[in-house]
Amino acid sequence: MADGKVHIFDTTLRDGEQVPGCKLNTKEKLGLALKLQELGVDIIEAGFPISSPGDFESVNEIAKIIKNATVCGLTRAVQKDIEVAAEALKPAVRPRIHTGIGSSDNHIKYKFNSTREEILERAIAAVKLARNYVDDVEFYAEDAGRADLEFLARLTEAVIKAGATVVNIPDTTGFCLPHQYAEKMTYLMNHVPNIDKAILSCHCHNDLGLATANSIAGAIAGARQIECTINGIGERAGNTSLEEVVMTIRKHPELNLYTNIDPKRLLPMSRLVSDTMRMVVQPNKAVVGDNAFSHSSGIHQDGFLKEATTYEIIAPEEVGADTSKIVLTARSGRSALAYRFKNLGYSFDRNQVDELYERFLKLADSKKEVDDSDLKIMAVTIAVEAI
Ligand code: KIV
Ligand code: ZN
Repeated sequence: MADGKVHIFDTTLRDGEQVPGCKLNTKEKLGLALKLQELGVDIIEAGFPISSPGDFESVNEIAKIIKNATVCGLTRAVQKDIEVAAEALKPAVRPRIHTGIGSSDNHIKYKFNSTREEILERAIAAVKLARNYVDDVEFYAEDAGRADLEFLARLTEAVIKAGATVVNIPDTTGFCLPHQYAEKMTYLMNHVPNIDKAILSCHCHNDLGLATANSIAGAIAGARQIECTINGIGERAGNTSLEEVVMTIRKHPELNLYTNIDPKRLLPMSRLVSDTMRMVVQPNKAVVGDNAFSHSSGIHQDGFLKEATTYEIIAPEEVGADTSKIVLTARSGRSALAYRFKNLGYSFDRNQVDELYERFLKLADSKKEVDDSDLKIMAVTIAVEAI
């Protein structure tokens, strides 16, 4: 199999921006696109140019300023969509048209009132048309997660023959289990005769919370592009989260996979997207959530203070976070309390720590979190009592 480089295709500005309330203007999109370029993404899906004049303008402006990443525009397998996307992408150094059509029998019947044969023809025509404008054409087989495997293989072979450079196998409804998604990729790798002429791409939705697992399973099975968004935002339950994919690949060198992403930029990027899109990140979100580097139970705190790797597989600095946090709650232990006092410049002997700990527990039972101001009052009180 080819090199282990997994191309990171960021669709924060397209699939991510489809989230209600996350709509961005052109200036905001340009700002994020520049930061995505700095982060090291290989492809930026900048929008869906035919969808609105604003989206056309955003794709067009992004195409003008991005020099170190491919700029991609989404289309349906419709002539006008492709012409408009080609126009929007004209200034790009590396333009890509992302066109496609439904591939599951469900979509073929209910969305298109069509047949497999007709879908095949429309897919081929769309890719051929797109290739008249750009050298890099990605085809998406929408709802591939529920599509018939033999048909998916025929479709994949046909669009590659028509000129597709990348074939996207979306689990549009977030339905697949990781081993099922991997089996799809393996089947395509083994049954599509011209598969060496294109890259297979994972595009997984998170309806069952499996988007990252499915994307990693797809890459292990041979896909070399993962489509994802910052903070995993996207339609319904969201898309595969970029930071999760990147850190999973980094933490598992035995996979022989790598990406071009600068991990130190992950947390700042997450915050920027959250602020710009006015979309909070859940505190327990992997890699970038507020609690990702917080330790609150006594057992964990004790282990962590002895050796950080006992409870942390990612060092906060690795992803651009400040430091790990020792949070004081009613579940915390003496060592955590002593550590926090030490950070505030106080040192107490063992008896004093025991006494402080008793008082701390009483306070912690009545309060969610004991903070620095509480600790300072406790420290002063015990000092006064000692006089
Ligand atoms: O989820 C999906 O199938 C998509 C396609 C348009 C790529 O977003
Ligand atoms: Zn999607």
